[in-house]
Amino acid sequence: HEEFTKVKNIATIELGRYEIETWYFSPFPPEYNDCTKLFFCEFCLNFMKRKEQLQRHMRKCDLKHPPGDEIYRNGTLSMFEVDGKKNKVYGQNLCYLAKLFLDHKTLYYDVDLFLFYVLCECDDRGCHMVGYFSKEKHSEESYNLACILTLPPYQRKGYGKFLIAFSYELSKKESKVGTPERPLSDLGLLSYRGYWTRVLLDILKKHKGNISIKELSDMTAIKAEDILSTLQSLELIQYRKGQHVICADPKVLDRHLKAAGRGGLEVDVSKLIWTPYK
Ligand code: COA
Ligand code: NA
Repeated sequence: HEEFTKVKNIATIELGRYEIETWYFSPFPPEYNDCTKLFFCEFCLNFMKRKEQLQRHMRKCDLKHPPGDEIYRNGTLSMFEVDGKKNKVYGQNLCYLAKLFLDHKTLYYDVDLFLFYVLCECDDRGCHMVGYFSKEKHSEESYNLACILTLPPYQRKGYGKFLIAFSYELSKKESKVGTPERPLSDLGLLSYRGYWTRVLLDILKKHKGNISIKELSDMTAIKAEDILSTLQSLELIQYRKGQHVICADPKVLDRHLKAAGRGGLEVDVSKLIWTPYK
């Protein structure tokens, strides 16, 4: 695709109280070609060339949270589900914004086919976007996540693992297994590896007796291939008499768990009010 070879033009964006340096090219409409900085409304994600335009916009914009249903609230943390078909402009704006931090993804112009799950930190001024993930309404390949982003000011605080955990909680409610769309970025893969390791090894530690990959998959909604590759990369799988056998020496598990980093922010499923898209 042409867009991959293009040079990054937007160097910084303003979003809420943050000024953020961008990472990659994003194909904003041609009339923005002469800009190096863009000003985003943190609620509707419309973007403008000048600060004064944004200030004028903020006086009229009624939104105080993403334009969708709040499907999760726990303390100051909320998740909103935005249907790309009902909120096309928001969906497109979000994709333009996200592409600034995503290297290898093609931009989805067809936002109709996606749901966007937007994570916010809420206070008396409104719900401030922290990150999001997108999900196809119908995936042939059992993808439960297309793109994931934690905005740079919020990175490395456990929000990424929260978003990943959330995507699997949705899959559990759908009674499906899921997997993220490939390719994953380096940071994406690190986050997934950390999440998979923690979830699987926590189960192996508590479980008594044999457990199969299929059972692990049923319990976690993690696709069998991802379970296998995670356990293989930790060298916890042995192949004996034509069968995969999981090694679960508690000392070995503890060592891997420690190396897998922090657990991230917990998803409290009792606070998720959601029915699958039909
Ligand atoms: N350096 C090294 N490891 C990192 C890292 C960094 N800068 N950022 C994340 N990680 C790893 C760590 O193992 C971390 O766990 P730990 O903090 O317990 O050690 C784990 O990933 C996840 O950290 P977490 O804080 O939950 O994730 P995050 O909120 O920073 O979000 C991404 C992770 C991938 C969503 C975020 O880096 C991002 O938005 N990147 C740009 C977009 C992208 O690449 N998306 C994935 C496309 S497939
Ligand atoms: Na992605």
